[in-house]
This record gives sequence, C-alpha cells and structure tokens, in this order.
Amino acid sequence: MRIVIIGAGNVATVLGRLIKNAGHEILQVVSRDVYNAQVLATELNCAFAVNSSLIDKTAALFLIAVTDTAMSQLDETYSLGDKLVVHTAGSVSKDVLKNVTNNYGVLYPLQSLRKHNMKLHQDIPLLIDANTEAAITILQNFALSISSNVSKANDELRLKLHVAAVLVSNFTNHLYALAFEYCSKEGADFKLLLPLIEETALRLRNHSPNEMRTGPAIRKDIKTLEKHLKLLSAYPKIHNLYLKITDSIMER
Ligand SMILES: NC(=O)c1ccc[n+]([C@@H]2O[C@H](COP(=O)([O-])OP(=O)(O)OC[C@H]3O[C@@H](n4cnc5c(N)ncnc54)[C@H](OP(=O)(O)O)[C@@H]3O)[C@@H](O)[C@H]2O)c1
Repeated sequence: MRIVIIGAGNVATVLGRLIKNAGHEILQVVSRDVYNAQVLATELNCAFAVNSSLIDKTAALFLIAVTDTAMSQLDETYSLGDKLVVHTAGSVSKDVLKNVTNNYGVLYPLQSLRKHNMKLHQDIPLLIDANTEAAITILQNFALSISSNVSKANDELRLKLHVAAVLVSNFTNHLYALAFEYCSKEGADFKLLLPLIEETALRLRNHSPNEMRTGPAIRKDIKTLEKHLKLLSAYPKIHNLYLKITDSIMER
C-alpha cells in the first residue's frame, strides 16, 4: 500500500518501521519540524515535507500520528477527498477527520510506544475503526500486515480501553517512580524489585488480577500496615497514596 505518514514522533516512527518492514511503500513523512521530519524520512527511505500543502496526495492511506490537540486543528490543506485517512489516538473520535476526507478511521496502538530503545514487536494490539464497512476492510487488512493482534473497537470502546490503559500502565509507572525515589533516599537498591515487578505482570497471562492479590492489605495485617505507614510519615505523598490504595484493596 502507498502511504503518507503525518507526524514524526514516537507513534509515527514505530508504526513507520512496522509499515516499512511489512513491505509497504512509504511515500512521504509530513511533519512541522524539519529535523524530525528528515530523520524519520531518512530512516524510512522516503521523501519529507514540513508544509501540509506539499502533501503527496497520490498515497492510498494517510496515517496521522500527531498530538491530540494538533489533530483537532488540522487545517483545510489536509483536504483529501475520498482517500483513507486514519489517526492513532485512543481518546479522540474518528469524526475529527470527517472534514478531511469521506473515508476515515482510527488505527490505535494499545501499547506504550517509544522511538528510542524499543524492540519492534509484530503483535502490538491494534484497535481499528472506520466510518464505512469498505474502509474497515481495507484498514483491517492493512493492520493485519503489520501486527498479528488486530481487533475492532468503536470510539466508545476505544476510550474505555484507553482509561484502562492509563490505570495499568501510567498509574503503575507512577508507583514505580515513587518507589524508585523512596529507595534512592533510603539507600535501598530499586533494581532488587525488578523480578517482583516482572513476576506480578507475567502472572496475568494465566490468572485474573483478583486471583493474584497478595500483601498486607488483603491479609488485613494491621500491624504490618502500621509499621509501613510509620516509615512513610516522612513521605506524605506516598503515605497518602498508600492509605488510599490500602483502603481500596480492603473495600473489595
Ligand atoms: N506514544 C504512545 O505510546 C501512544 C500510543 C498510542 C497512541 N498514541 C497517540 O498517538 C498520537 C501521537 O503520539 P506520539 O506519542 O507519537 O506523540 P509525540 O511523540 O509527542 O509526537 C507528536 C507529533 O505531533 C507533532 N505535533 C505536535 N504539535 C503539533 C502541532 N501543533 N501541529 C502539527 N504537528 C504537531 C509533533 O511534531 P514536532 O516533531 O514538530 O514536535 C510530533 O511529530 C497521539 O494522538 C497519542 O495519543 C500514542
């Protein structure tokens, strides 16, 4: 398929690599920052443009991977007639593209993507949606060419999954950051916790999170909880979260 990628950030880069590896023809990277556009175009071996008026309209698929705010400000130069145009956001309706083209949709990677230090996976969950059945079929075939893990999700379901993604990824990472800071200040080696982090996540491949609950809160081990809270009195932010999450675990 002949493709133009709009944006040159994390998602544009990772999807660009997958698209190139799958043997599609990437015609152009369009991005406002000349350096970023050029770097990605060089990697993908295609042309680049920094001005939307220079977009190569001969492509069959236009993949827009810009920030959610930028997407809502797409100007009339992105008027692409009947061409298939998709964005990659979890929380933005596909209809944001309805003034850009008559065939539009979403290709949302349900994964945290980074252009640096990230192995290229062929099974990133891709949630697709489009405004017509014909567009869904084209998009589904395209998505299956870059990932073995493709499913359909409309705006509503995608938004719900985005909320769940924030809980399991962004929130847990915030807890890792707090634990890292705590360990650094207390002279403990955070790296000793890595096998525990990995084991906890891996168990979910075969068990539900409810089955795998463990720790002092679920055991209602008040003495241990009090000791922990005493230690955390010097860390009000962590103390507060520890109490809230302990309450939430005990309420279940
Ligand atoms: N990263 C993820 O893990 C992930 C996963 C799933 C979905 N998404 C979604 O994918 C989309 C792109 O995310 P990302 O992580 O690739 O973001 P990113 O790495 O921050 O890159 C954002 C891109 O948008 C461009 N941009 C920013 N403001 C702009 C503006 N006002 N006008 C035109 N272009 C603008 C940036 O251009 P410059 O280079 O000039 O700054 C850059 O190319 C977002 O909708 C995000 O929600 C992200």
